[in-house]
Amino acid sequence: MIIKNGKTIHLQGKNISYVIFENDEGDLLHFHFGKKLADRDYSLMTSEWAEEWGFATNEVPLDVYAQEYPSYGHSDLRNPSYQIINKYGNAVSQMKVTEYKIHHGTTADVCGMPCLFKGSQSADTLEVILYDSAVDFEVHLYYTVFDEYDIIARNALLVNKSDTPIEIMSAYSASLDLPIGDYDMIHFAGAWGREREMIRTPLQLGVKVEAENARGGSGHQMNPFAMICSRDADETHGEVYGLSLIYSGNHSTAAKIDQFGGLRVLQGINPFCFKWDLKQNKSFYTPQSVICYSGEGFGKMSREYHDVYRNNLMRSEFTKKPRPILINNWEGTYFDFTEEKLLSMAKRAKEAGIELFVLDDGWFGKRNNDRSSLGDWTVNTEKLPSGIDGLAKKINDIGLKFGLWFEPEMISPDSELYRKHPNWAVKVNERNPVEIRHQLILDLSRDEVCDYVINAVSNILKTANIEYVKWDMNRQMTDMMRGGYNHEYTLGYYKVMSAITEAFPNVLFEGCSAGGGRFDSGVLAYMPQIWTSDNSDAVSRLKIQYSTSMCYPVYSISSHVTASPNHQVGRITALKARGDVAYMGTFGYELDITKASNTEFEEIKQQIEFEKQIRPLMCDGDLYRLQNLYEGNYCSWEIISKDKKQVFVFASRVLAVAQSKNPRLKLQGLDYGKQYRDTQTGEIYGGDFLMHRGIKINYKTEDFATEVRLLEMC
Ligand code: GLA
Repeated sequence: MIIKNGKTIHLQGKNISYVIFENDEGDLLHFHFGKKLADRDYSLMTSEWAEEWGFATNEVPLDVYAQEYPSYGHSDLRNPSYQIINKYGNAVSQMKVTEYKIHHGTTADVCGMPCLFKGSQSADTLEVILYDSAVDFEVHLYYTVFDEYDIIARNALLVNKSDTPIEIMSAYSASLDLPIGDYDMIHFAGAWGREREMIRTPLQLGVKVEAENARGGSGHQMNPFAMICSRDADETHGEVYGLSLIYSGNHSTAAKIDQFGGLRVLQGINPFCFKWDLKQNKSFYTPQSVICYSGEGFGKMSREYHDVYRNNLMRSEFTKKPRPILINNWEGTYFDFTEEKLLSMAKRAKEAGIELFVLDDGWFGKRNNDRSSLGDWTVNTEKLPSGIDGLAKKINDIGLKFGLWFEPEMISPDSELYRKHPNWAVKVNERNPVEIRHQLILDLSRDEVCDYVINAVSNILKTANIEYVKWDMNRQMTDMMRGGYNHEYTLGYYKVMSAITEAFPNVLFEGCSAGGGRFDSGVLAYMPQIWTSDNSDAVSRLKIQYSTSMCYPVYSISSHVTASPNHQVGRITALKARGDVAYMGTFGYELDITKASNTEFEEIKQQIEFEKQIRPLMCDGDLYRLQNLYEGNYCSWEIISKDKKQVFVFASRVLAVAQSKNPRLKLQGLDYGKQYRDTQTGEIYGGDFLMHRGIKINYKTEDFATEVRLLEMC
């Protein structure tokens, strides 16, 4: 809901208020983002505007005021939310409010990038128009608020109204000025196989902390999601501000405590290597930043993001539906497969209760290793004599759905496509392009290249009964053809994704980028699940999945049981541990199931039966993280249905301890007065007991011990 009271504009969510107003000079000031305030005209409380900074009037420089979309070159000397080189060739800019508009609904889809849509919720959008009359430059700020959530979704539109082209040097999506306090920033950094490590840094006076990535995709190295929190914040307590950028290219979230102790946080496209020429009367949209406030720790914030993204971002009709249990042949065969081998795996998979067979890399062109053929999306009939359509039929006859891997944004220098269109690859004229994994990137800034990709993938999808696609992207971007190229590419990527996912709504798409190198909310808008990491080791996955769930819904986290010893880290773990960890997310197998012993096969059958019982919870349930491996030896989580009737609990102890004193596991979010039955043991517990006394977990005396429970209200 958006309330206008005098000069005050008050955006109210379920439990939050976001309050702004302009001063007498027309500067747009920020007043409050946090717990809900009553409806008042806060613009009258001039003595409160600058708080402890000691200034009480607006005759002083803007440096002391909290702002909404700060500009550069006047009396606010903190980092600005945008920078342009204006028509006179300098970077000075100052915006004054000219108009406010309130729209019912959201701004979805106007900007060529995914944004939140209204869905069945109640959404309103505030548009504030700011104008710099000295240089004829306009900014429109959009703020969407939902009655049902504690989030504000922000983006900006920059318009050149002058008669001369100008340059945008940076344009963040959101700027948030928070009052004096002790803040920590939590960011999610890593590497291939070690994605999204949760790292907490105390913010200190004068030091800018920037969580950024400039490697092309959103990246293994830094996720476009970060949190600012009070120093005492944890899963269940404290103030937390989440910032999630709906974007799959280079990004930045930067925080700096200013000289007076206030905090400015900026989130948006990474200014590094960014420059956008804006011709007369042209405009530029920033991606959308979804900022969330929780007064009750990280857990509450995560549940907000999960609900918003499931209900108002993810377009796939599979988003809230149980997903098929899959088997993927990659770690089972790598490139070395025949049709016969695949069919033998599929038959055994069917006997185990698996529902979808996915053929990974190596089915097209002459691709028997990673050195060739990307771009040549025609089946290799030497390997697969019945073609993809014939194979799909045979897999369907076995009783499984069929899915296929693509890496459509890429081109191998050794490919028919490259021989025909060498200039379709991203490269600069004066140099040989950098190859990573022996491949180059297709130039998606060009319409003809996007059309090629759309047609190549569509042709295969039309000719065979393919019900699932794994959409991979296995390299980082070098050879940037011009400043801002990464953004042009990202817009092309969204255009391709929109076209294909709209044309094939019945296909379940899974995103991937050398594991979890592009795990972001931009991708989720099109593909409801993402391969979380190429590291499928159960112990490594504890932290990876725990951190990923901070922002992204449980069912978007794709998680497979693979062979032991693990192929990425060599660790030996029990099949039980691998299954128990993989239940969090979209569950599947990625191993040669024909090699499973009878005992293992029986265990796999049981895992699948259990997964079929718990998967409705993954679609829409609420996640509670109970024990944090970053702080000790235990990691556990719980997923409970919205009606609180079913509860899935996962608990793990990483290293065995003699005479261990395992802490009792206190569940959360249950119905206090109701009884819950443990479906395995038949034991009945009260909701009060499960939450306030907690259950005893008797781990086996071994390393990497895990336990799962399914409790049902009775
Ligand atoms: C990437 C993916 C893997 C697999 C291979 C195939 O590394 O993350 O899951 O699909 O590509 O080449």
